[in-house]
Amino acid sequence: MKFLIQLLLVINVTTSLIKANPGYDCQYCQPEQVHIAFGTKPNDIIVTWTTFNNTHESRVQYGLGEMNLEAVGTRHRFTDGGQLHRHMWIHRVTLQDLKFDTKYEYHAGSVYGWSELFSFKTPPEGDKWVLRAAIYGDMGNKNAHSLSYLQDEAQRGHFDVILHVGDFAYDMDTDNALVGDEFMRQIQPLAASVPYMTCPGNHEAAYNFSNYRNRFSMPNHERWESMFYSFDLGPVHFVSISTEYYYFLEFGLKMLSEQFEWLQRDLSEANKPENRSLRPWVIAMGHRPMYCSSPRRACDNSVPQRKGIPFFGFGANDPGSYYTATGPWFAAILRTIAGTTSCPIASACRL
Ligand SMILES: *[C@@H]1O[C@H](CO)[C@@H](O)[C@H](O)[C@H]1NC(C)=O
Ligand SMILES: *[C@@H]1O[C@H](CO)[C@@H](O)[C@H](O)[C@H]1NC(C)=O
Ligand SMILES: *[C@@H]1O[C@H](CO)[C@@H](O)[C@H](O)[C@H]1NC(C)=O
Repeated sequence: MKFLIQLLLVINVTTSLIKANPGYDCQYCQPEQVHIAFGTKPNDIIVTWTTFNNTHESRVQYGLGEMNLEAVGTRHRFTDGGQLHRHMWIHRVTLQDLKFDTKYEYHAGSVYGWSELFSFKTPPEGDKWVLRAAIYGDMGNKNAHSLSYLQDEAQRGHFDVILHVGDFAYDMDTDNALVGDEFMRQIQPLAASVPYMTCPGNHEAAYNFSNYRNRFSMPNHERWESMFYSFDLGPVHFVSISTEYYYFLEFGLKMLSEQFEWLQRDLSEANKPENRSLRPWVIAMGHRPMYCSSPRRACDNSVPQRKGIPFFGFGANDPGSYYTATGPWFAAILRTIAGTTSCPIASACRL
């Protein structure tokens, strides 16, 4: 009996393989550069990966212990702006409504080939837990001394989230974006296991941030292409913005004004008492510092990310109410926008 059942299973698997074979010689269809990010909810995970030929399908098979679930998504062709105009296919699949505090296994791919088996753990539900994040910026493809430690710790489950605050690979577009490909392979051991949340830095500016916009898939990427977004995780409302819009004005002012208006809406929502009582922390990241105490150039008080571009209206209307400190600058913005006189994050304002 057992033998018969096994035989039947084998036959089933074989017939489904035959049915799905589209008969196309897909030489460069092996998935690589797999990475994950939180979606609009902390129990939605977006899986992103690359193939160099079109696989005509983008699937993630996943589950608890066995991969009995499947989600399908989309792919688009990304052409780098370099001389060779190299192109690749970027695949995006969202795993929705996952169980909280649960370890999932998954692989990504298509009938032409599957990635290695990866796993990640979803965060606990609610706000009563201590969040562990790895936070850094400026990590290159060469000389990345911290990379092996990050890979190791991510796989040991030491982080709930990773925040890479701009400047990737030095640079993703270098050498016709081959450096970008290699960098995305280097971070796969951590970024396929822990949500890898990003924001753009000045080194992403080439071709209007196209390597950054295409390779990452942050919450609401369909709308803002990962340039700015927010997400809730445990007791924290995280906000990510592009400080680069204030510097690369040649790409247009539209995105700068959209970000400014979005940020006001997002912070007013996050600052509602119901939301602040659930998530008292509002943590923001942007590549260039908003506040600091050092007299160095990138830090002085006249920098556009701090003062805005008042002529166009995308700036702080009351810079006098800001605090000089590297960390808690968002407390100050919240204060300006919400028009409160008291400090919105007590611990931050004491600094
Ligand atoms: C498949 O990928 C290779 C390597 O990137 C590329 O040279 C080739 O043009 C691609 N083929 C098609 C049909 O896109
Ligand atoms: C740069 O990209 C943004 C979308 O992110 C687009 O709105 C803008 O028009 C682009 N600018 C140029 C000069 O192509
Ligand atoms: C709380 O915040 C979430 C997400 O940031 C938002 O969708 C929701 O509308 C807010 N709720 C209230 C009552 O402010």
